[in-house]
Amino acid sequence: MRDAALTALLDAASAGPGLIVLDENQSTGLPPPPSPHWRALCNRSDVAQAAQAAGWHCECNDFDFSATPPLRQGLYRLSKEKRVAEHVLQALWDKLEIAGELLLSGYKQEGVKTLASRAAAAWGSTAELTRGEGHLHLYRLRKTTETAARLTHSDYHALHLIGEWEGLLLWSKHGIFAWDRIDDGSRLLLEHLPSALAHRHAGQRDAAALSALDLGCGYGLLALALGKQGIGRVLATDNNAAAVHVTAHNLAQYALPGSFQVILDDCASSLNERVDLLVCNPPFHQGFAVEGALTDRFLAAAGRLIKPKGQALFVVNAFIPLERKAAEVFSEVKTLANNRRFKVLHLSQPRGARTR
Ligand SMILES: C[S@@+](CC[C@H](N)C(=O)[O-])C[C@H]1O[C@@H](n2cnc3c(N)ncnc32)[C@H](O)[C@@H]1O
Repeated sequence: MRDAALTALLDAASAGPGLIVLDENQSTGLPPPPSPHWRALCNRSDVAQAAQAAGWHCECNDFDFSATPPLRQGLYRLSKEKRVAEHVLQALWDKLEIAGELLLSGYKQEGVKTLASRAAAAWGSTAELTRGEGHLHLYRLRKTTETAARLTHSDYHALHLIGEWEGLLLWSKHGIFAWDRIDDGSRLLLEHLPSALAHRHAGQRDAAALSALDLGCGYGLLALALGKQGIGRVLATDNNAAAVHVTAHNLAQYALPGSFQVILDDCASSLNERVDLLVCNPPFHQGFAVEGALTDRFLAAAGRLIKPKGQALFVVNAFIPLERKAAEVFSEVKTLANNRRFKVLHLSQPRGARTR
């Protein structure tokens, strides 16, 4: 189902040249571009693929506007993270020609009004409310002069040192899940990683002989941990261009013994290499929405990508009934830990293994 805030934007699109900025909110139902003079820019590989399939010239990167030509119109459906939103708005404004306009849509509770007003005040423009149905708002900001004034002075692309895990320094940036901390769910999974490895692969003492996949890697914490366990081949994948970039950066910091590959992909759909161990903290939210279908896709990918005798560790919020869904994909489902906030499930014997 298409997001109504996105529809409102597209209804207001002119002949261009224009750019629409997409993120994880816009995963389905993008119509064809209003004219050949329109482009899209997106940080998510699945959304970019859907836009391309709908006929858009769509670049997929971490909101890098360097290849964007001058614009008559910039369209943006507000993103969840404030720093992402500020960066995108400023970059669109910088690309606008004089007399060009920026259209911003979103819901009242998402803070669209505040951001539109702040941007207008920073640039000496006016945030004109052109549509306001219920909680959905659409603002228009016209550019009449060039100004050096900025909505934000922070560098969106900068990497930040956010902490340390077992002696490994962690770098991260805005635009990534739990970007400035170690997620409590991921931490719980990490606590159970060594014992799961030792127990399950007791016959295979040499970790270097094992392969592993971090599915939905974020900034790469779990992939780093797999490397630190001495696993010989570590794959990490995410659909977020920022996540893939930072994971590769984090893995390159250390002379870990294994080989590493980081892949931008939608739910590992291009991967065919089966692994001994898969670790995953699946996404629960997609943009502003709570997304159950994604969990199913992550489970299916895990069932497809582990070896017949391989294992998967999933961590999810304790209230999510993952066991039931996991049992459709795996014959063996065990709860390794449940601290009432998060639980770690051990999944093995993928049901499809016998037929492949
Ligand atoms: C809960 S986070 C876990 C991140 C990381 N593993 C950690 O522990 O900090 C889930 C990750 O899944 C990614 N993701 C969401 N949808 C995806 C998709 N369709 N394909 C691949 N990754 C996706 C998100 O970008 C996010 O990085």
